[in-house]
Amino acid sequence: MQQAAAIVRQRFAVTYDYAVAFTRGCFDPGNGTLATVMDCAATLPRPRCVVFVDLGVASSRPDLAAAITAHFGTRSDLPALVLPPRMMPGGETIKNEAHLIGEMHDIILDHGIDRHSYVVAVGGGAFLDAVGLAASTAHRGVRLIRVPTTVLAQNDGGVGVKTAINRRGAKNQIGTFAPPWAVVNDADFLDMLPARERIAGMAEAVKVALIRDAAFFDWLETSAHRLAALAPEALAWLVRRCAELHMRQIAQGGDPFEQGSARPLDFGHWAAHKLESLSRHHLRHGEAVAIGVALDTRYSVLAGMAPAGIEERVATLLERLGFRLWHPLLAERDASGQPVVLAGLEEFREHLGGRLTVTLLEAVGIGVEVNAMDDVLVGRAIDWLAAREAA
Ligand SMILES: NC(=O)c1ccc[n+]([C@@H]2O[C@H](COP(=O)([O-])OP(=O)(O)OC[C@H]3O[C@@H](n4cnc5c(N)ncnc54)[C@H](O)[C@@H]3O)[C@@H](O)[C@H]2O)c1
Ligand SMILES: [Zn+2]
Repeated sequence: MQQAAAIVRQRFAVTYDYAVAFTRGCFDPGNGTLATVMDCAATLPRPRCVVFVDLGVASSRPDLAAAITAHFGTRSDLPALVLPPRMMPGGETIKNEAHLIGEMHDIILDHGIDRHSYVVAVGGGAFLDAVGLAASTAHRGVRLIRVPTTVLAQNDGGVGVKTAINRRGAKNQIGTFAPPWAVVNDADFLDMLPARERIAGMAEAVKVALIRDAAFFDWLETSAHRLAALAPEALAWLVRRCAELHMRQIAQGGDPFEQGSARPLDFGHWAAHKLESLSRHHLRHGEAVAIGVALDTRYSVLAGMAPAGIEERVATLLERLGFRLWHPLLAERDASGQPVVLAGLEEFREHLGGRLTVTLLEAVGIGVEVNAMDDVLVGRAIDWLAAREAA
C-alpha cells in the first residue's frame, strides 16, 4: 500500500511599498526628490550607486551626464556615485542584445553594488525593462530607481512591476516581476521627447480611461486640443492620472504578478502587439495600441456588449490626439483568407498560458473580460476601420 505524502504547507506574504514622485528637474542642484525617495541619508556605511543612461536621452540632452555627476557629487543625502553615468543603447536594441544584460551585471559586480546599493536607470520603457532585468537578477535583486523619460514609460511600464528582454525575435520572452525601490517621473524629459513619441504614449491613457475611469475619459475629450498641441500641463496631468490608474490596478487588482490568465489592462493589446511585430516596430507601441483600442471598441459594439456610438466617440478622440487608426497590415490575409492580425489572439494567450482572456468594453469606464472572440466580427471591425480610413 502506498503511504500518503507528508505535506507541510508554506505560506507567507511580502508587502511592497514604493514611491512614485512627480517633479521637474530631478537632477537640478536644489531638487531633493531623488534623496527623498532613496531615503538613505542616515544609512551607514554610505550606500553606493551606479547610473545607467539611455543613449537616446543623452544625445538629446548632452549636459545630462555632467548634471547627474554634479547632483550626486554635491549632495550628502544621496548614495556615493561610484563611476560616471554609463550610457547604454535605448529602444528595442537594449532588449534585443542579451550581451548588454551581461555588461550591466559586470558593472554592478565590478563596482560593489550590493543589495543595500542602488542602480538608477534613466531612459525609455525599453531601457527600464532591460536595466530592471539586470538589477533584479544581480545579487538576486539590488535596489532600482527608475527615471522614465517617455510618456509611455512614465504613465505605464515605469510605474509597474515587470522587467523584460526579447528573445528569438519575440517581445518580452525573458524577464522578472520586480517592483522598483522608487520611481521619479520628471516632466522635463518629456519636453525634449519627439512629438511622435509624446503622442504615442497618450494611447495608454485613452485605453485605461475607457476600461476604468469615465471621468478621465471625459477629461481627455475636453482636453484633446491641448493634448494634441502637446501643452505641458495637460500632458503632465494625463501622465499622472494614467500612472495612478495603472498603479491602482497593480495594488488592488488582486494579481500583481499576473499568475492568472487575465491581463485586465491590456485592452486593445492583442492586435497591438501583433501589429507592432508585423511592422517590425515601425509602428510605435502606443500607435498600435490606438488601432487595437479602436478595433476592440468596434468589436464590443458588434458583439452586442457596448452601446452603438461609443466606437465613433473613441475613434474621434484618438484621431483628435493625432493617431491614425489604420495600417495596411490590417488588410493582409493569410493562406486561408483570414486577417493575419488574428494570429495575435493566440500569441496573446500563449504569453501567459491558460485560457484566452481578453478585455473588451461594456461602456465608457467599464471593461469586461471574455474568453473568446469571433473571427467574423473581428473581420467586420477591421472593415469598419478601413471604411473610416477611406472616407
Ligand atoms: N514593463 C512594463 O510593464 C512595460 C509596459 C509597457 C511597455 N513596456 C515596454 O516599453 C517599451 C516601449 O517604451 P517607450 O515607448 O518608452 O519607448 P522606447 O524605450 O523604445 O524609447 C523610444 C526611443 O526614444 C528614445 N528616448 C527615450 N526617452 C527620450 C527622451 N526624453 N528624449 C529623446 N529620446 C528619448 C530612446 O532612446 C528610444 O530610441 C517596449 O519595449 C515595451 O515592451 C514595458
Ligand atoms: Zn501597452
